[in-house]
Amino acid sequence: MQLPDENIEFDYKRLVAPGPDPWTPLAELQAQHLIAADRLDPLRAVLNAVRGRVAAERDMLSPPADLLPLQAGFIDLPQKMLDAYRRKGENSELGRVNRLAARLKENCDRVVVLGIGGSYLGAKALFDALCHTYHNEMPVKMRMGRPRMYFDGNNADNDPLQDLLELLENTCVEPDLPEERWGVVVVSKSGGTLETAAAYRAVRAEAAKFYGPKSDWLKQLIVPVTGPKSKLRDLARAEGIADDDIPTIPDDVGGRYSVFTPAGLLPAAVMGLDVRALLLGAAAMTKRFLEEPFERNPVLQYAAVNHLMTTEAKKSTRVLAVWSRKLESVGFWYDQLLSESLGKFGKGATPVTAVYSRDLHSRGQQHQDGARDKVINNLFVRTTKHPAILVGMADRNEDDLNGISRKGLPDIQEAAFRGANQALADVARPTADIVLPQLTEHTVGQLMQMLMLATVVEGRLANTNPYGQPGVEAYKRNMVAALKATPNLPKGEVRDQAKGV
Ligand code: PA5
Repeated sequence: MQLPDENIEFDYKRLVAPGPDPWTPLAELQAQHLIAADRLDPLRAVLNAVRGRVAAERDMLSPPADLLPLQAGFIDLPQKMLDAYRRKGENSELGRVNRLAARLKENCDRVVVLGIGGSYLGAKALFDALCHTYHNEMPVKMRMGRPRMYFDGNNADNDPLQDLLELLENTCVEPDLPEERWGVVVVSKSGGTLETAAAYRAVRAEAAKFYGPKSDWLKQLIVPVTGPKSKLRDLARAEGIADDDIPTIPDDVGGRYSVFTPAGLLPAAVMGLDVRALLLGAAAMTKRFLEEPFERNPVLQYAAVNHLMTTEAKKSTRVLAVWSRKLESVGFWYDQLLSESLGKFGKGATPVTAVYSRDLHSRGQQHQDGARDKVINNLFVRTTKHPAILVGMADRNEDDLNGISRKGLPDIQEAAFRGANQALADVARPTADIVLPQLTEHTVGQLMQMLMLATVVEGRLANTNPYGQPGVEAYKRNMVAALKATPNLPKGEVRDQAKGV
């Protein structure tokens, strides 16, 4: 499948200062807050060297200690998965993902996805970006048999999980009816993350109550996705789940880089997304990154200008302004990617996700006029999936819209996009555009791989290891200590739940 017209692009020309002549107050501001045109040329050699280094890291079997942790497996993974699928079909990891997804789709109407951080945000981003906005509310026919999706296990937040269990208890009464059956995908690479593990216990107990503790459905409709060796894998085996029904997150792929492992692909396949197109998009981006010169290489461009914005122009806040609410969760996924990869040793930009034009009515004032500590990367989709909703002519024109009656919402959105960029450029506020021709599996595959690759390149430019997240461990240690420091008794009222099944 070749989809050459769907290349995403990065346009950073508004980040580059036009030069000091003639002197104007704006030129002065641009010199202070944008990138000097002659700054990018010397960086090209550095970027090529970094690209060579990142490429070489893919093949390092025993990396030197100063490179550890090194988890470069995500770079070639999309192509490797496609190749293995071509060679081994059903017996490849992608074949396994398809088989398990088909089982869940055929046998249940609801699937609960449990996971946190990199074991959650990628799948949620794909769901929000690529499924119908009201997927869960649609009748089964309009969902084309795809299950409703629920996400939990990303917190120890009692009440939403209780609400979910209540929803399942009240809407799923008869396990013999496929439309009332539900399944679980539990994702944890380490298999030891407390929030996810505790939620899984509660959800499994609920499933055992619904299906019966010895029901085969518990082995068929609960699918763990985990690392090669983990407590979750051990538990799943002990629960009788076949080894072949447990997809693997490879050791050499870190959590926040794992969206194109079964961590993201299995939920995506359950939602009915075209996982091959996702992988093709991601593989195409890796190829572009490795082979294209700077002028046609969105990974190198994005990494370079954002690195300069953080380190030289001192823009410590990086806003990803997504121009569709369908992309807000892609923003949250990127928040994690940037924070955990580059937020180390007192360095790294602070990510913020904004949905424009919605947030122009809340954060817009600050972005236009507040502290000059921000760079804004727009994420804009050029073509909508559905035909345009026109403003239309109306008998009553008190709202004064008849003059734009033949315009549609996409025209209004584009006018807002241009208007916001112009307003920011007029006061030398730095903005750049990631442009998706349309929102499809293929473009989202490219986008996510582009941002993951750019994060690694940026890490190497900043001398920060983009892999590992040592700062997250402290809270986990304290949480476990806090739990152990008090008697093994619950706080407050307790839900009546099935035990030990
Ligand atoms: O990027 C990471 O590695 C982390 O954010 C993990 O994804 C997150 O902590 C969840 O870990 P696990 O999949 O082991 O439950």
